[in-house]
Amino acid sequence: NGGGGTGGDAGNYPDQNITFVVPFSAGGPTDTVTRMIAEPMAAKLGAKIVVQNVEGAGGTVGAGEVARAEADGYTVLMHHIGMSTAPALYKNLGYKPLEDFEMVGLVTEVPMTIVARKDFPPATLQDLVTHVKANANKVTLANAGIGAASHLCGLLFQSAAGVKLQEVPYEGTGPALTDLVGGQVDFMCDQTTNTSGQISGGKVKAYAVTTPERVKSLPDLPTTAEAGLPQLQVSVWHGLYAPKGTPQDVVQKLSEALKAALADQAVIDQMAKLGTAPVPAEDATPQAHRTKLEEQLGTWAKIIADAGVEAS
Ligand code: MLT
Repeated sequence: NGGGGTGGDAGNYPDQNITFVVPFSAGGPTDTVTRMIAEPMAAKLGAKIVVQNVEGAGGTVGAGEVARAEADGYTVLMHHIGMSTAPALYKNLGYKPLEDFEMVGLVTEVPMTIVARKDFPPATLQDLVTHVKANANKVTLANAGIGAASHLCGLLFQSAAGVKLQEVPYEGTGPALTDLVGGQVDFMCDQTTNTSGQISGGKVKAYAVTTPERVKSLPDLPTTAEAGLPQLQVSVWHGLYAPKGTPQDVVQKLSEALKAALADQAVIDQMAKLGTAPVPAEDATPQAHRTKLEEQLGTWAKIIADAGVEAS
């Protein structure tokens, strides 16, 4: 029938607005990456892309909504490493990452930074470990909910430091960072796509970046390895998803538009400014994305089990 709805061919796709669901608050890192690629993707597709924030439960509420959306190419999900951790952290997840979505392609892999409110006493990452061990029942660690990248990095930090801290969940690390700058919460692990501006602006204290190499746009920030916590390494991969059953030629059109956005100089420059970079074109494809998700599901199930964290 060539119309919209499930099974319609891609011939006239897209002929209406496309919704990109961000499963975290506006103004956070996931939202930032989505809005960066939405414009060039819209130009390539010849349709308007509307970004919709659907918050809650570490990104699983938004992901669940997209899993149940019409498989017609007009609802797309931007998600990150949280897609690979949720099955090990949520008993009643309501969707199966590998079965309930079509993978469109990988987007970017973002370093994380360990940041604190400006007047938090520890000066270095080692001081931070010492401080949190001595004040475990007082220190507050912000994140964007169970399964969020900030939660996972916080988990890795607590395992490395041998401590269990009070976690303060937000609906995204956009609002969490606002509270950190305001001094309402002590520290957090968050992506450079969110923290770069506040670090460069001296509004937060930054201890380290969680990648093997320093980030060019934050040259003075040591790596966790340099700062004495080599086991704390994590970077946040992002991918685009459509509901299972979205026609393959529609998925291909979305993947082509994603590749065009990742080759757009403005996107490359903006990502570089925020400490990250687009994936290579061959990774902005459904197969590369599925391979990544399969590998990450296994990796994080083990990390979470080793950290002694139970699904809830
Ligand atoms: C996360 O911690 O998973 C993300 O940074 C949340 C967000 O994008 O707000």
